[in-house]
Amino acid sequence: MTTIGGNNGIGGFYGIGVGPGDPELLTIKAHKKLQDVAVICFTQLDDGQESYALSVVRGILEAANPVFLAITIPSDDDTPIDPQTWDDAAQEVSRHLRNGGDVAFITEGDPMLYSEFFQVLGSVKAVVPDLDVEVIPGVSSVMAAAASSGMPLVTHGQRLTILPRVYGIDDLMEAIANSDTTVLMEVDRELLQALASREKLGLSGKATFVRQASTARENVVEDISKLEAEDLDYFSLLIIKR
Ligand SMILES: C[S@@+](CC[C@H](N)C(=O)[O-])C[C@H]1O[C@@H](n2cnc3c(N)ncnc32)[C@H](O)[C@@H]1O
Repeated sequence: MTTIGGNNGIGGFYGIGVGPGDPELLTIKAHKKLQDVAVICFTQLDDGQESYALSVVRGILEAANPVFLAITIPSDDDTPIDPQTWDDAAQEVSRHLRNGGDVAFITEGDPMLYSEFFQVLGSVKAVVPDLDVEVIPGVSSVMAAAASSGMPLVTHGQRLTILPRVYGIDDLMEAIANSDTTVLMEVDRELLQALASREKLGLSGKATFVRQASTARENVVEDISKLEAEDLDYFSLLIIKR
């Protein structure tokens, strides 16, 4: 996917991972490219909060002064994203690309792990089929959380499962039974209560909660039964050892 350069005056489209939160965890390549593109595109929840990915890089963009292009999506998980949202964004992105401007879609962590990057890329390619694309990887939250926990995710020969969210306690228990380590994203209160009350599942002492790894709001909790509502955050995950 590293094919950018000399595409008939059409700008390149970059998927850039900005890492887990600490701007010092941006790669040098991401840092350079972000200062060089004409447009920074990102998804933005409709609840008015600044995009997490943008908040990570805003400080380094002041001198570059790019155009910011927000794709607004519902903050409520139960409201599906209107497909028109992606088409409208693609039209806007393609306008900049056809004017020769490079466009970066930024995402927290890495763009190849549970990110909207491929959704946006697909929509843009439908409008600009001969698009030049480059992906610049970022430090995933999974890696940052493991570093914060002080424990390796897995060691040689062990199995790792990453789940984007819980599809049901049974589903989660199956993953835990079949892996040495399970990482669970999008942790919510309901799930924690269900897990904490299931002593018989033997999870006490085996699940580590990590909130906003690498940031000033980082919180690492080893006894999940002690978690309070205010500890929780969308940007948190559980590392569960079998
Ligand atoms: C849609 S996924 C994005 C994953 C991202 N592409 C990555 O590579 O880390 C969002 C989930 O990532 C996790 N996450 C993102 N940043 C985090 C952080 N700094 N600390 C802990 N978890 C984080 C949370 O579980 C959150 O619900």
